[in-house]
Amino acid sequence: MNVLVTGGAGFIGSHTAVALLDAGHDVALLDNLRGSSAGAVTAVRELAGRDVAFRRGDIADPAFVDAVLEEGGFDAVMHFAAFKAVAESVADPLAYYQNNVAGTVCLLQRMAAHDLRTIVFSSSATVYGEPATTPIDEGFPIRPVNPYGRTKAIVERMLRDLHAADPRWRVSILRYFNPVGAHPSGVIGEAPRGVPNNLLPYIAQVATGRRARLDVFGDDYATPDGTCVRDYIHVVDLAEGHVRALEHVAAKPAFAIHNLGTGQGHSVLEVVNAFKAASGRPIPFRVVGRRPGDIPVSFADVARAEEELGWKARYDLARMCEHMWHWQVRHPKGYDEPPAAQPPGQ
Ligand code: NAD
Ligand code: UFG
Repeated sequence: MNVLVTGGAGFIGSHTAVALLDAGHDVALLDNLRGSSAGAVTAVRELAGRDVAFRRGDIADPAFVDAVLEEGGFDAVMHFAAFKAVAESVADPLAYYQNNVAGTVCLLQRMAAHDLRTIVFSSSATVYGEPATTPIDEGFPIRPVNPYGRTKAIVERMLRDLHAADPRWRVSILRYFNPVGAHPSGVIGEAPRGVPNNLLPYIAQVATGRRARLDVFGDDYATPDGTCVRDYIHVVDLAEGHVRALEHVAAKPAFAIHNLGTGQGHSVLEVVNAFKAASGRPIPFRVVGRRPGDIPVSFADVARAEEELGWKARYDLARMCEHMWHWQVRHPKGYDEPPAAQPPGQ
C-alpha cells in the first residue's frame, strides 16, 4: 500500500514509517515540523536506504492537503499529527481543539474529496481517564480528564460517526499506552524540545548528565512501592502494531479500536532501576509531591489486538531502556546536532 503518514517526522510517526517500509509498503511523510525537525526525515531516509517523500505543511491547510493527496495516489492515511502535552492543553485548550480536532476535520474532508477513506488514528489510553480497575480493555468508559484527552475522544467519536454515515470508511483507532524506546539502530528516536514532559526521556537526560536529577512525582500511591504504574511499550512494537492494524482494516471496511500496550505495568522506581542497569550510569532522584492529574495505575488488556491483529509486543523494559540509551548517546541533543562519533559508554 501507499501510505501518507501525517506527523511523520515525529517520534511515533518516524518509527512507523520505517516499519511500513520494512513491511514493503510505500510511504510519504507530511509534517509542519512544529514539534520535530527535518533531521528526522533524513534519518528515516538513511534507515530506509532510499528516498522517502516529505511534504512540509499543515493538516489544517486544505489547499496544501489537496496538493499532497493529488500527487500521491495514496491507499491510506496514518494520522499522527497532533499536539500531545497534557499541561499545555490545560493552559491553552483552544490551540489543542484547533490543531487536534479542527486539523483532523480538515484532513478527513480532503480525504473524502479524494475518495480516500482508510485511516489509522493515533489515540491514547488517556481517553480512559482514571479507570475503576485494571487491566483496561477497549470497552471501558471513555472519560478523559484534560483537554488533550478530550481532543482524542472527540476525534474517536467523529470517526465513529463518519463510518456510520458512510460505511466505505475503514477506520482503525489505536489507543497507545506509554510509548518509549528508540529504533535499535540508534538512528531514530524521541527528541523532545525543551524540558521533557515524560518519564523516560527525562531519565535519559539525567543519565547523560544534562539534567541533575529526576523528580519522582509521589511515592504514596496504593502501589507496591508507592510510585505510579504504567504500561510502557517499545516504539518499534507500537510501529509494528500499526502495520498490522492497517493491513487488518484494509482487508474489509470496518471500524476497529485496539489497545496497544504490553499488558505489563511498571512503577517509576522500576523504570529508574532498569535505566540505571541499561546505561551503567547513576540516576539521582528525589521524591516530590504528586503531579496533579496523574492516575495511580494504568496498564492494558491486550487480548483484542492479539486476537484480531495477530500482534503482541516483544520487547521488555530492559530492551526499551537499552535502545533508548543507545539513541541518547548517539544523539545527546536530538536531531539538532550530528551523531556523536564515539558515544560514551559504547
Ligand atoms: P510528536 O510530537 O513527536 O509527533 C507529532 C508530529 O506531528 C510532530 O512532528 C509535529 O511537528 C507534527 N504536527 C503536529 N501538528 C501538526 C499539524 N497541524 N500539521 C502537520 N504536522 C503536525 O508526537 P508522538 O509522540 O510521535 O505522537 C504521535 C501521535 O501519537 C500524536 O497524535 C499523539 O497524540 C499520539 N500519542 C502519543 C503518545 C506518547 O506518549 N508519545 C501517547 C499516546 C498517543
Ligand atoms: N514521572 C515522574 N517524574 C517525571 C515524569 C514523570 O515521576 O519527571 C512519573 C509520572 O508521575 C507518572 C509516570 O512517571 O507516574 C509516567 O509519566 P509520563 O508523563 O511519562 O506518562 P503519563 O502516563 O503521565 O502520560 C503519557 C503521555 C500522555 C498519554 C498517556 C497515555 O504523556 O500523553 O501516557 O498514553 F496520554
